[in-house]
Amino acid sequence: MSAARDTEKLLAAREAALLVERGMRVGLGTGTTVAFLLEALSTRAIDATFVATSPHTQAAALALGLHVEDFDAETELDLAIDGADQIAPDGWLIKGAGGALTREKIVAASAKRYVIIADSSKLVDSLGPPVPLELMAFGLRATLARLGSTTVRAVPLSPDGGVVADYHGEVHDPALLSRRLADMPGVVEHGLFAPTLISDVLVASGNTVRRVISGGRQ
Ligand code: A5P
Repeated sequence: MSAARDTEKLLAAREAALLVERGMRVGLGTGTTVAFLLEALSTRAIDATFVATSPHTQAAALALGLHVEDFDAETELDLAIDGADQIAPDGWLIKGAGGALTREKIVAASAKRYVIIADSSKLVDSLGPPVPLELMAFGLRATLARLGSTTVRAVPLSPDGGVVADYHGEVHDPALLSRRLADMPGVVEHGLFAPTLISDVLVASGNTVRRVISGGRQ
C-alpha cells in the first residue's frame, strides 16, 4: 500500500516538476511528496532559484544540488509547489502535518501560481480534524484555553520560535473556522488553506495524474 502511495507521490511530483522553467523563482513545500519533487527537479537540472519552507527541505534541496536562496532575497515567486494532508472537493485544504504551515502559507501567498501535489489518499469528502496550528509561546496556556480541543505536539519549536499544535474540534465550515482561528490572539497561523490561495491540485491515482481541482486562484 505504501509503495503504491509512493508511486503516486512520485508521479504527481514529476508532473509538477515539468512546470519549472529556466530562470524561475520557485517555492518548495515540505513533506514526503515534496521529497519526490526535489529529486525530480534535480534530475531536470533546470537553472532556477528555489526557496524552501523548512530547514529540512532546504538541506535536502541543497544536497541534491538545487540553488536555494533565503526568502528575504525574493519578494515574489513565479511558482510554489507543495503537498497537502487533506483535499476537499471544494478546494479547501488542510496542511501542516509536518509543522511547516506558517512558512508554507507565506510562500503560497507570495507565488503567482501555487500547485498542490498529492497521492490519492489525500482526497476527502470533507475536511476533518486535526487542523495543525502554530502558536506563540508567550501566553500559550491562555491561548490553548481560548481555543479548546487543542494539543501541543511533542516536537521542537518551529524555525520561527512557534509552538506546533493541533486543533481537534470539528471543521464543519472551513471558511468560518479559518476566520475564527485567524482572529484568535496567540495563533500565528493555521493549516486551513483556502481555495483562493490555490491554482492547481494535481493528484495521482494509480498511474494517472489528474488535475482534480482547478483552484480559485488564476
Ligand atoms: C508540511 O507541514 C505539510 O503541510 C505537508 O505539505 C503535508 O503534511 C503533506 O505531507 P506529505 O507529502 O508528507 O504527505
